[in-house]
Amino acid sequence: MQLLTTWLDDGRAAAPHQDSMTLATATPDGRPSARVVLLRGIDERGITFFTNRTSRKGDELRLNPRAAAVIHWWELGRQVRIEGSVEETSDEESRAYWRTRPRGSQVAAWASRQSQPLRGREELDARVAELEERFASEDVPLPPFWGGYRLIPASIEFWTHRDDRLHDRVRYLREPDRWRAERLAP
Ligand SMILES: Cc1cc2nc3c(=O)[nH]c(=O)nc-3n(C[C@H](O)[C@H](O)[C@H](O)COP(=O)(O)O)c2cc1C
Repeated sequence: MQLLTTWLDDGRAAAPHQDSMTLATATPDGRPSARVVLLRGIDERGITFFTNRTSRKGDELRLNPRAAAVIHWWELGRQVRIEGSVEETSDEESRAYWRTRPRGSQVAAWASRQSQPLRGREELDARVAELEERFASEDVPLPPFWGGYRLIPASIEFWTHRDDRLHDRVRYLREPDRWRAERLAP
C-alpha cells in the first residue's frame, strides 16, 4: 500500500489530475462490466471510491462483492492492477466524504437514478430542479442509496514499461501475516 501511495503521488506529479481507476465488477454468473471511478482514499485497509449503491456496479457488488481495478499512467509507463474483495464504507466515512462534495454534485446524486434509462435529458433536468427546490433551505443530506466502497486488495501488481516489451511485473499477494512478492514474465 505504501508503494501504491508513492505511485499515485508520482502520477499526480507527472500530470496534474485526480486519481482515477478503471473498476471492474461482475454478476454472480461471471459477466464483467467496467467503468472509471475516482479513487478517493487509500490506507492500510484498502482503497475507497464513492458511488450510487443502486447503480449497476452497486447491484453487482451487492451480489458479488469482488472487484478488480486498473490504473495506468502513460507519462510514467506504469500500470497497477488490484484484485480483491469489496466492503461498504461506514456511514461516518460516507458522510465525511459527502460533506466535501460541492452542493451541485450532492443535488445531482439525489437526482440521478444512476444506471437507469432516462426518457430524455429533460427528465434529469426536471428532477434536478425538483430536488434543488426540496433542499433549498437546508444542507443536502447523504442519500440512503449513496456511499463508499473499500476494495481490500488480495493482490496488487506493479508494472513498469521496459524496452523491447521486457517489462517489469511484480505482484504482491496477501498472505495471513505478510505480503509475498513474486516477479511475473511480461
Ligand atoms: C474520470 C471519471 C471519474 C468518474 N468518477 C466516478 C465516481 O467516482 N463515482 C461514480 O459513481 N461514477 C464515476 N464516474 C462515472 C462512471 O464511469 C460511470 O459512468 C457511472 O458510475 C455508472 O456506472 P455503472 O452504470 O456501471 O454503475 C466517473 C467517470 C469518469 C470518466
